[in-house]
Amino acid sequence: EKVVLAYSGGVDTSVCIPYLKAEWGIKEVITLAADLGQGEELGPVKEKALKSGALVSLVEDARAEFVTDYAFPAIQANALYEDCYPLSTALARPLIAKLLVEAAAKYGADAVAHGCTAKGNDQVRFDLAIAALNPNLTVLAPAREWGMSREETIAYGERFGIPAPVKKSSPYSIDRNLLGRSIEAGPLEDPMTEPLEEIYAMTRAIADTPNEPDYVEIGFERGVPTTLDGQALDPIALIERLNVRAGTHGIGRIDTIENRVVGIKSREIYETPALLVLIYAHRDLERLTLTADVTRYKRGIEQTFGEMIYEGLWFSPLRQALHAFIQQTQARVTGIVRVKLFKGSIAIVGRRSENSLYAPDLATYGADDQFDHAAAEGFIYIWGLPTRVWSQKSRG
Ligand code: ARG
Ligand code: SIN
Repeated sequence: EKVVLAYSGGVDTSVCIPYLKAEWGIKEVITLAADLGQGEELGPVKEKALKSGALVSLVEDARAEFVTDYAFPAIQANALYEDCYPLSTALARPLIAKLLVEAAAKYGADAVAHGCTAKGNDQVRFDLAIAALNPNLTVLAPAREWGMSREETIAYGERFGIPAPVKKSSPYSIDRNLLGRSIEAGPLEDPMTEPLEEIYAMTRAIADTPNEPDYVEIGFERGVPTTLDGQALDPIALIERLNVRAGTHGIGRIDTIENRVVGIKSREIYETPALLVLIYAHRDLERLTLTADVTRYKRGIEQTFGEMIYEGLWFSPLRQALHAFIQQTQARVTGIVRVKLFKGSIAIVGRRSENSLYAPDLATYGADDQFDHAAAEGFIYIWGLPTRVWSQKSRG
């Protein structure tokens, strides 16, 4: 009877409002738009929901929580889905789901709704996160079932006073937040077609980037980025500034073929300037401050962690357990990484930490060398013993 709908202001989620009421007999639709730094005016979005028939139109600024509770743990995990995608869109879904569930409790709704289609990952993420947070809520997904084409959707909306998009609508499907942009569909559906420059908004083409590099020193505390060039910044400002600095140098463009949860391979373009720089810098600082075995073991955890974010399992016991493991490893990941941003490349050119495990007197080839050379021989003898025995046996 009463539903909280995840709302973006776009045609699809706008049409969901009259559709839920007229076709599915819902009496009251409450919309919830989350500000995750998509850079859109949310004032008009609030109005638009009411004009489209929402009883209450909520707008929540969730940017700080998004960065602190979702992006930072993913950076600590060096999370890259299929070694490629830093999960900028995927990370937003469990947070939006959490806001929906909270609003449902506050307004006494027994259902929540979203505008995802049947072919994507986002529906999986919403449905599973909602189920984890409140299994008693019904999840409604009108766009998964209505079977309307884009044109039919627009025509349906017009019957209820929802204006068709003013601009000739873009052939692309775009999702944007503070962490990045995801661009798909239209001409990008041909994997051999190079993306047109027009699809990018956060990154410059290499032809337009400066001819001098930008050096940025990123400070981490327990694996969390806290400073740029020695200046302490709140999480939102840090991401925003680094997005501009890295984007200016054409950093963060990704063009990939990705395996969706629903079994489809899709061609995806991302631009995630700050997020990618932070993951690279963080991973480098771990090389300096973690032991070899923890670093190596953590790689496997990281891969699973990234897959779980992608697959909608953020609010699951395993993801939480892996989170605890990762937090334990971060206790000493404090220090500074110097990064050179230039012509689309992220080059780590220096690192420093009070917890550095790099021992100059062991590493040096100079006169100060403290390494016990004699010990190497005995070590190699014992380390190689199984190989030696095996080799002798196989010679017969
Ligand atoms: N393939 C990406 C992901 O699964 C991008 C999804 C974009 N979502 C959207 N509603 N346009 O995270
Ligand atoms: C959607 O179908 O809602 C967008 C694509 C995706 O979720 O991957």
